[in-house]
Amino acid sequence: MPLVEWTDELVVGVPAIDNAHREFVDLLNALPEAPPEEFRRLFARLAEHTREHFAEEEQLMERSAFPVTAVHKAEHERVLAELEEVLQQLERDDIEGAREYVREQLSAWFVLHRNTMDYVTAVHIQRTLG
Ligand SMILES: [Fe+2]
Repeated sequence: MPLVEWTDELVVGVPAIDNAHREFVDLLNALPEAPPEEFRRLFARLAEHTREHFAEEEQLMERSAFPVTAVHKAEHERVLAELEEVLQQLERDDIEGAREYVREQLSAWFVLHRNTMDYVTAVHIQRTLG
């Protein structure tokens, strides 16, 4: 069973966001069964991908003058700090702890974030930028 199953219900309607989310879900789902070295490599890629995706989303928020950009941005910062902590955990060879974070927290966070902040942001982007 994948951690997060990609279905149409996850689509927010802004292609740049949806494409990035799809890639995120693919990386996320590859993590639980990945052997340790592969896990490290994939997690580092996921962290990098997330940093880039957040920056792109924030640019869209600014271009569309999204009224609560600061709130959405602060949540991105919080998650980036969490991913940074897990990267450090991996440097200490705590692969199991990192796996637990992916399984117990990151997957649920993604769905919640998509259903709340990303959804509202996407509706606004579509209305203002078309
Ligand atoms: Fe977001």
